[in-house]
Amino acid sequence: MAYLLGVDIGTSGTKTVLFDVHGRTVASDMQEYPLYQPKNGWAEQDPEDWWRATHVSASNVLRKSGVDAKEIKGIGLSGQMHGLVLLDREGKVLRKSIIWCDQRTTAECAEITEKVGAKRLIEITANPALTGFTASKAMWVKNNEPEIFDKVARILLPKDYIRYKLTGEFATEVSDASGMQFLDVPKRRWSGEVLQKLGLREDMLGKVYESFEVSGTVHREAAALTGLVPGTPVVGGGGDQAAGAVGNGIVRAGVISSTIGTSGVVFAHSDTVTIDPNGRVHTFCHAVPNTWHIMGVTQGAGLSLQWFRNQFCRDEMSTAAAMGVDPYQLMDKEAAQVGPGANGLVYLPYLMGERTPHLDADCRGVFFGLSSTHTKRDMLRAIMEGVVFSLRDCLEIIKALGVPVGEVRASGGGGKSPLWRQMQADIFGTEIQTVNSSEGPALGAALLAGVGTGMYKSVPEACDNAIGVLTRQSGDAAVKPIYDGYYKLYNNLYKSLASDFKALAALTHQ
Ligand code: XUL
Repeated sequence: MAYLLGVDIGTSGTKTVLFDVHGRTVASDMQEYPLYQPKNGWAEQDPEDWWRATHVSASNVLRKSGVDAKEIKGIGLSGQMHGLVLLDREGKVLRKSIIWCDQRTTAECAEITEKVGAKRLIEITANPALTGFTASKAMWVKNNEPEIFDKVARILLPKDYIRYKLTGEFATEVSDASGMQFLDVPKRRWSGEVLQKLGLREDMLGKVYESFEVSGTVHREAAALTGLVPGTPVVGGGGDQAAGAVGNGIVRAGVISSTIGTSGVVFAHSDTVTIDPNGRVHTFCHAVPNTWHIMGVTQGAGLSLQWFRNQFCRDEMSTAAAMGVDPYQLMDKEAAQVGPGANGLVYLPYLMGERTPHLDADCRGVFFGLSSTHTKRDMLRAIMEGVVFSLRDCLEIIKALGVPVGEVRASGGGGKSPLWRQMQADIFGTEIQTVNSSEGPALGAALLAGVGTGMYKSVPEACDNAIGVLTRQSGDAAVKPIYDGYYKLYNNLYKSLASDFKALAALTHQ
């Protein structure tokens, strides 16, 4: 038998999954790690935690599956995008990684725009300078920690650090590299112009591959730690969103995904480089050769519910532990007892600022309309609805760019909740589907490994072989007008509060 391994270095943990040739899960393992938030709006992780989680989960998967590692024909990597990993000449990590949701780089975004030119930056990188992207994080270290920056020999993304640990190669691939803001996105190669204007060198970055191409093979030391066989091919893989899209079959025009992980993402495939002139959605290379994708990002999607769970749902967590179920299932049941509109409570999910549609690092979360009649259930429901309102913002922009929206597939941890999916069907006014595998990014990365090692001819063929629609939920026309009213209010609230968010940021940065 032949098998494929997918590794997804997420924000809450690393998930390693072994698949058979039909994309069926044989065994999986998840290893968690901490998120460090030294200041409001800052977010860091330790790359050594990612590596430990990867080798432990890989060896656990091999043990659980009983599969002979020789039968693993290829490995695909996926991971949280944009994180800045800095290595010195010896390949040692120089500081904790500043990750995707960190918002400290507003000044560096202005600097990048000034140095490259706003128009040129969008022409080359297909996006305006954003606090989330790697370039502004690298410039922040250059400006604020020059003693560290002087020692930088390599700048890598999270999954590409794992590639280095597994294979010894410094490499990346087009989908994740697009989110660094050093890539010429239409041409799918590093931009000498952007690098030179920012005072960086191309030799600091890895070699860029297409996502299915083999980028190296597992070396002896990594093999000894993981149980993998030395020489096993490791393909480019993809940023979690592009790899997740492959794992959900979003490889043709008209099929869209809506993912609720820590972040929330609405993702559309595109055969051309379609750019939002206002930069509210991102245009990146897709993991399918010669195609691109457009995505809108909600910074605090699953993060909002996770934050609420950790702070206010201790009872649910201990009951769930005693029952052997996921606490989110109990929280779902509570939210389901409240009707659409959460009894007049509206939540803005801006815990870590917001990307789509506001591009605002300073906005923060809000419960609007709280009264003494409200209960925890109302708050839970309002959080779930607020996240979906934010995803609708993403979907509306994608539609307005002329991208066809046919099927919408829900995925991510939040996609497992029938209630959250129904809210999406009702609030988007579209049918919401799920597919037969919920492994998203790990499956997508493994399928890319299948293409790179000759098991499948193309990425769409790999998807056709492994992915089919499992469930369909239609929107309820009766509740759509209720949600439309709340969605309008949700949008007005940001407008009303925009200057107050700036005032709050000024107070908290003092
Ligand atoms: C995408 C993004 C997030 C991270 C973490 O642009 O920042 O989706 O990849 O999941």
